[in-house]
This record gives sequence, structure tokens and C-alpha cells, in this order.
Amino acid sequence: MAVLAPPDPRLTEPGTPGEVDDPSDATFPLLDEAPAPWAARGRSGNPVPEAAVSAMFDEIAPIYDRLNTLMTLGADAGWRRAAVAAARLHAGDTAVDVACGTGKLSAALAERVGPFGRVLAVDASRGMIDRGRAVFPDLVQLEFRQANALRLPAPDGEFDAATIAFGLRNLADFDAGFRELCRVVRPGGRVVCLELSVPRPRAWGHLFQVTFRRLVPWAGRIAAGSRAYGYLPASLDGFPDPDALAVRMRAAGLQRVTIRRLGLGAVALHVGTVPEG
Ligand SMILES: C[S@@+](CC[C@H](N)C(=O)[O-])C[C@H]1O[C@@H](n2cnc3c(N)ncnc32)[C@H](O)[C@@H]1O
Repeated sequence: MAVLAPPDPRLTEPGTPGEVDDPSDATFPLLDEAPAPWAARGRSGNPVPEAAVSAMFDEIAPIYDRLNTLMTLGADAGWRRAAVAAARLHAGDTAVDVACGTGKLSAALAERVGPFGRVLAVDASRGMIDRGRAVFPDLVQLEFRQANALRLPAPDGEFDAATIAFGLRNLADFDAGFRELCRVVRPGGRVVCLELSVPRPRAWGHLFQVTFRRLVPWAGRIAAGSRAYGYLPASLDGFPDPDALAVRMRAAGLQRVTIRRLGLGAVALHVGTVPEG
């Protein structure tokens, strides 16, 4: 699911970071042949140009949900339920689901707040948004909007909660992403981040990485004929581990940050509260 991430531009042929302005120019490497070289732990953002990220998600939008279910063996539904519960929303509340993709988490949030609540689902990819609109036409309280997670179309303190599921890794600046989530949530409201992580202990974590590198690109190619799935494993190289992510959330202004590991440690659920007063 959301478990996808874009290619490393330094592996892109031809081109270097910053050269891909037009989504139609975006090209993607075969990751299983070339591991990402930017594997320094705790990088501060995704180095892939935003236009290339959106182009990739536009490409895979039609098969995204099916492959997610296949690759997670259906476990993604449970992870989303945990994220909805963590947001602690009630009937009539408001929420924003950032990097919403095809809107599965957004729809679950919309069902939680009911017809008198409101959920704004935001994504940079037109293809993913169109998919979400087509799949959930009946949820009147759910609105999809194409926008950048780093510039949310909402005033300060607008929502009771903000969520981001498997989207943070794609952002150009993780800290700015958390600050923006924090900005649009009212004091006392919650920011929920569901994201992949490398499982502990080391042996299982290593096995996970190796399997992940081989299996995901293969599944993407067999099931969908899409090379884009070759990029997923690269997204975890250098991505902050759950403890480091919690530090970043606190630095963005969130309090009472908690971490819950799901999926045998392959997924981390972070929750923080916007300070009151
Ligand atoms: C792996 S998908 C996750 C989708 C969904 N949240 C889920 O759980 O299935 C990542 C999503 O992040 C979106 N995205 C990437 N960069 C973004 C940005 N800067 N602003 C908004 N959305 C972005 C992509 O278009 C894609 O739909």
C-alpha cells in the first residue's frame, strides 16, 4: 500500500536531481539492480523531485489498491483501523488525511465522523485522487483535493486530527511535513503517522530488507507490468527509524508522542498531540 515510494533521481538515466520538471520526463531505475546510494540513516527528506513522485503515483493508481492488499496479505486494513482509532475522532469531528492516495484511510475516517463531520483528503497525484473520488462517491462528508502536503489548503487549527499513511517518506522535507500537519490541527488534537520501518531485531530486519528488495519489484512487474514498484525498497534506505521519527515529531511541536509497532515491526504508528494554549 502506501507502501510505495519514488525512485532515487541519482539512479535515473539520464538526469540528476532537480532536472525532472515535467512529469512526462520522469524515468525510473530498476532498483533490484542498483541499491540506493543515499542510504545514510536519518535523511531529512525525499530527494526525488515532486513532479517525478506524482508522475509515478499517477502511473500506478489503477493497480495500487490491489497490489497493496496482495503485498501485505491484507494486513494493511488492520493498520488503517489502528490509525483511525489513534486519531480519537467522534461523530461530527473534522480531519485531514494527507497523501491520501486512493482514499482508503480517508473513507474510514469519514465513516468514523459520520455525515455531520468532514474529512478533507489531500494528495499531489491527480491519478490517485481521481481513483478515490470514483471509489467513494457516496460519502458526502469526504472531499478530495489535489494539493501538496507541505502547503495544505486549510487555515491554522482547522481540524480535530490529521493523518498521513505511508506518505511521509515521499515528502521533500519530513520536518516541514510534520510542522504542516501540526499547523492545521487544533490545540489538543492529534497527528497520526503510519509508516514503514525496518523491523528489529537485526536478523529479522535484515531478512525483511532482503526479501523486500526482491519480492516487491518482482510482484509489481508480474502483477501489473509496472517498473515503478521497483522503487519501493529504496524509500526505506536512510529513512529515519521510529525513534528518530518521534524526535522529529516533538521538534515540530507535538507532545506526548507515542510509537506502536505493527506488522512484526515492519510498520510504525506514531501519534502526537498538538499542545493546548
Ligand atoms: C504510498 S501512497 C499512500 C496512499 C495512502 N495514504 C494509503 O495509505 O494507501 C503515497 C501517496 O503520497 C502522495 N504524495 C507524495 N508526495 C506528496 C506530496 N508532496 N503532497 C501530497 N501527496 C503526496 C502520493 O501521490 C501517493 O498517493
